[in-house]
Amino acid sequence: MERLFLTNLHTPKAVIVIFGATGDLAKRKLFPSIYKLYKSGKIGDDFAVVGLARRPWTNDVFRTNVRESLQNALSMEEDAEEFTSHFYYHPFDVTQAESYTELNGLITDLESTYKTDGNRIFYLAMAPEYFGSIAHRLEEYGLKNSDGWTRLVIEKPFGHDLKSAKELNKEIRVAFNEDQIYRIDHYLGKEMVQNIEVIRFANGIFEHLWNNRSISNVQITSSEELGVEERARYYDHSGAARDMVQNHMLQMVALLAMEPPIKLTTDEIRSEKVKALRALRQLEPEEVDEYFVRGQYGKGTMKGKELVGYREEADELHDSNTETFVAGKVMIDNYRWAGVPFYIRTGKRMAEKCTKIVVEFKDIPMNLYYKEEAEKHPNLLVINIQPNEGITLYLNAKKSGMGSMAEPIQLSYTNNGVSGINTPEAYEKLLFDCMIGDTTNFTHWDEVAHSWAFIDTVLNRWQEVKADFPNYTSGSMGPDAANQLLEKDGFHWWDVAKNE
Ligand code: BG6
Repeated sequence: MERLFLTNLHTPKAVIVIFGATGDLAKRKLFPSIYKLYKSGKIGDDFAVVGLARRPWTNDVFRTNVRESLQNALSMEEDAEEFTSHFYYHPFDVTQAESYTELNGLITDLESTYKTDGNRIFYLAMAPEYFGSIAHRLEEYGLKNSDGWTRLVIEKPFGHDLKSAKELNKEIRVAFNEDQIYRIDHYLGKEMVQNIEVIRFANGIFEHLWNNRSISNVQITSSEELGVEERARYYDHSGAARDMVQNHMLQMVALLAMEPPIKLTTDEIRSEKVKALRALRQLEPEEVDEYFVRGQYGKGTMKGKELVGYREEADELHDSNTETFVAGKVMIDNYRWAGVPFYIRTGKRMAEKCTKIVVEFKDIPMNLYYKEEAEKHPNLLVINIQPNEGITLYLNAKKSGMGSMAEPIQLSYTNNGVSGINTPEAYEKLLFDCMIGDTTNFTHWDEVAHSWAFIDTVLNRWQEVKADFPNYTSGSMGPDAANQLLEKDGFHWWDVAKNE
């Protein structure tokens, strides 16, 4: 699909079937996103949503639930009666044949009521162990045989490692083609993540410098204040490397490192991303400790509040060896990036909720305008993903007054500062992309496979060697080793907490 003209499309029509409709994701993200698409006119009246879960709810209970979720997520007062009349609930057992045949009947009825042309979206927002068998049964019980198109949306985690991801993919591919599969990585729906490509490829001043001759290193930080919350069961089985690095962090690396696509089409963009991921330097097991640092939060204080450590968050975590923090040095072995480290860092219970990319440019050979070497400030391009959205360019300029000494200055652009801009939430964009059949901002199987192959080596090594946890205080920016990772290369983190 050609991405330049996405604004000229007709409003899409579909029945959206949500597996896991009583869950957190549906409440916090999916219902509010569908509502915003409806309110903004991106979808018209030709749609219905079918909620599936085990609970024996009625349509009325479901609709009340949807209304509550809108009130909580969007702080809205109106009752949205008309909107929720498009929502239907069906108690569902994913292992039972009747569930699927009854569902098919319900969808067929709704298709004639809402004139959705047989278009069906199956959204799997539930426990990953059922992904494969649901996909299979949708095929087996004829739910894909409609007159329109059928699409399958899958939430992460897509597998637990390369082997299980391959098995899952094989199971799904029996029923769905790659272009019918929409693997969600919600970072790809974020405004400023999508903007990376435009900032890079629509500005001559950056593209010429975007290589190992001018860039010394790239730093990507995604820090969270929250701890493990109520997700101990999932998270302890996953850890920060699977939860954040295999997907969100490596996707940002790919967007920063890829070559310009020859056209703005899904295939061209994806193929450049895949090439970048293929060039990730695969580590030898004995190199992992040199390139990667893991951490787990201990107790600490944040904004005056005492916080417990990860192991005290739930009984089952009392002797957990799971990492809640990862820092790593990722090398991309290709012509453009040879020798340039991409440092990544992500973790829970860190000083600040912030996702930011810092591109550090090499210093000029003779900078005469600073007295001390230590005062020199390299040019930085900072891409602020969240909570603020924007870009800041750090330059050197003359200190006002007498003399010719330089000082760092900042040129900033913030999306939030421009009136009328209210960037849609990631899920809103991704749902809409799915409805119009645009897979660009979803992860292709090849991207998933390369990312797992890379991170598996790190995880295998960590499984062999017990970590000395906890090793960072809640409310800090992670363990000291994460700072040393850069210091040994002569760099330091441009600290998000201090906003240096
Ligand atoms: C999710 C992870 O994919 O991303 C969570 O499972 C994490 O653990 C979340 O908190 C972070 O997303 P965001 O959009 O808040 O940065």
